[in-house]
Amino acid sequence: MAKLVRGFRDIFEPQSKNFTELENCARGVFSLYGFGELRLPTVELKELFVKSTGETTDIVQKEMYAFEDAGHRSLAIRPEGTPGVVRAYLENNFTQNAPVQKFYYIGNMFRAERPQAGRYREFEQIGAEYIGNSAPAADAEVILMLKDIVSSFGAKNYKVKINSLGCDKCRPLYRRALIDFLAKEKDTLCENCQTRLEKNPLRVLDCKIDGARFAGRVPTMELCPECREHFDAVQALLKGKIDFEVDPMLVRGLDYYSRTVFEFQAGDASQNAIAAGGRYDTLVKNMGGPATPAIGWAMGAERVIMARGEKEQPKQKSVYVVSLEKACNETAFNLMQSLRASGVKTEGGLFDKNVKGQMKQADRCGASYALILGGDELAKRAVTLKDLTTGEQKQIPFEALTDEVKKLV
Ligand code: HAM
Repeated sequence: MAKLVRGFRDIFEPQSKNFTELENCARGVFSLYGFGELRLPTVELKELFVKSTGETTDIVQKEMYAFEDAGHRSLAIRPEGTPGVVRAYLENNFTQNAPVQKFYYIGNMFRAERPQAGRYREFEQIGAEYIGNSAPAADAEVILMLKDIVSSFGAKNYKVKINSLGCDKCRPLYRRALIDFLAKEKDTLCENCQTRLEKNPLRVLDCKIDGARFAGRVPTMELCPECREHFDAVQALLKGKIDFEVDPMLVRGLDYYSRTVFEFQAGDASQNAIAAGGRYDTLVKNMGGPATPAIGWAMGAERVIMARGEKEQPKQKSVYVVSLEKACNETAFNLMQSLRASGVKTEGGLFDKNVKGQMKQADRCGASYALILGGDELAKRAVTLKDLTTGEQKQIPFEALTDEVKKLV
């Protein structure tokens, strides 16, 4: 039998309805904030992610679905959305014509991570990227927009953590201090962190094995006056509007961040980030564009849904059309189409089955009423309407059917 690939999932109703609900919530909030949808391709040149997400990141080193196509191009199935957004921004000349852009995207991302609860190889991200605004107001705006989506969807028990990673002026000093501190502990570090130590020491703080034991002991970041002022201003704008905590251990696993970074965390499992993001003021330039500030985030749809809990979706009442004999099938089918055309949720059409089989299906579909059409009804140009809860039934003439049914469902 055909088999599903490990780490991938089929999502049926009613679970899939949670995704639609979250997407609709997000679209509503995005529109209030003036963010427009950008539909991105799923495949990009592999190099795009190597250069932007970062060569030393786990995503690029271990988790990317990369392949060579028939034209010997090195491609990758997107592990995240930000690099594609920046590529699209640059390639379509927004830098010249309209440098300030607010994009959102909804799409599946792919990472060959070890599957576990809340961590999948294909998952949905809903993301936002605000390009061209360096003001602290942009940081506060995207964080509050994220909060608005998560709360309007109904997820409650989450913590918001923020930090500043400084800029090209202050981070190198911090990096050095961190390397000096960690070098003394080198022998006790896990294998990964021993490699990270020189290349990407900030990532050691984020390590699932080593990170926690350094909390409170590592040197803290000395922000330069500009970064300090920026971070203070972001916090001042957020105060009173959202509960947050400054966490100096929050460093994020992607290379392009500078200044403000943040995570929304739920639960205490290791896969607890329901959404995360930050500033990436140097990425547009590093990708060949003019110096352009930017900030954004992405939420993991599965994790936001898990944080809220699956909600029983309200069920739309429906009717089920049953035909008792071959001669009635066409009229029964036309009836189904005309009911649908007038906005009634209608199922039926299993005309190769006998009455018992059709009624059983009506039950399985959760229909509230069956509309039964036999030779007797056809001769009278009427339909028998059966209430599937009470068992009561009555005949309704064709002309009155739509109005009658609309009163009921
Ligand atoms: P990220 O932290 O790699 O950032 O992913 C964002 C969110 O996607 C995570 O917080 C998590 O909820 C979800 N996520 C990541 N990996 C998985 C997985 N394997 N299974 C389920 N959910 C997952 C980014 O992707 C950045 N592009 C965010 C960003 C946008 N920064 C600036 N702009």
